[in-house]
Amino acid sequence: MINGIMDIKDQINKENLPSHVAVIMDGNGRWAKAKGKNRIFGHKSGVKSVREVTEAAAELGIKYLTLYAFSTENWNRPREEINALMTLLVSSLSSETKTLMTNNIRLLVIGDVESLPSVVLKKLNTVIHKTSVNTGMSLILALSYSSRWEIVNAAKKLAKDVQEGKVLTKDIDNDIFSEYLTTSGIPDPDILIRTSGEFRISNFLLWQIAYSELYFTNILWPDFRKDEFFKAIFEFQNRERRFGKTSEQIKA
Ligand code: IPE
Ligand code: IPE
Ligand code: MG
Repeated sequence: MINGIMDIKDQINKENLPSHVAVIMDGNGRWAKAKGKNRIFGHKSGVKSVREVTEAAAELGIKYLTLYAFSTENWNRPREEINALMTLLVSSLSSETKTLMTNNIRLLVIGDVESLPSVVLKKLNTVIHKTSVNTGMSLILALSYSSRWEIVNAAKKLAKDVQEGKVLTKDIDNDIFSEYLTTSGIPDPDILIRTSGEFRISNFLLWQIAYSELYFTNILWPDFRKDEFFKAIFEFQNRERRFGKTSEQIKA
């Protein structure tokens, strides 16, 4: 508390936290452009926000944080930008391992990881292995990820299991289908945050966000720090999630 004004963090109800927060980290390029710098500078500056948001989520006691870091469609960006992003990924994984260990966070990854350069894949596996002993929050990086890729892939794997008699068609339901997604075992996001003032989902977790609360902010990703994260959680707690029921039923 400073000057009698309560910190936004103190206004968050610890009994009503989202289990899973998903974030579309957008606006690095525009942030850099506004400063007369190149897009890569924006991506580098975005790493600090990744660290702050990860720490903020862990401080609150959130169990799962998923960050959309690179989409399937992002492979269509200029070669130099892709290379810079991959290099930045490797260096950030190295420099942030300490943050993960200190905060008891385990790293997971979703997406078509086989399509990543081998240096990235190797580094990822090292950090995933090293942090696998941690029992606090799970930090899930979505890399070379797109939801349609994931759903098609799930359909293929499920079809194979049906063919081999491991699953009966009549038994397929939401729960069974979910097990074939890369997020198997992870609860659906309670809130999805997107920065940079874009109002779209960009092929992220289409199945999983069926009932997520959506939170859009104009803040560009490199400016999205702890307090912005706390603000989003605070707003989430002031929404009424009805899941098809009436408000009266929810209050009863
Ligand atoms: C998000 O920032 C980072 C990635 C998609 C890798 P952008 O690079 O999309 O930044 P804008 O949207 O061009 O400002
Ligand atoms: C979405 O951002 C993907 C990530 C944040 C990794 P984009 O900047 O690629 O999204 P679009 O293409 O503008 O929708
Ligand atoms: Mg963008």
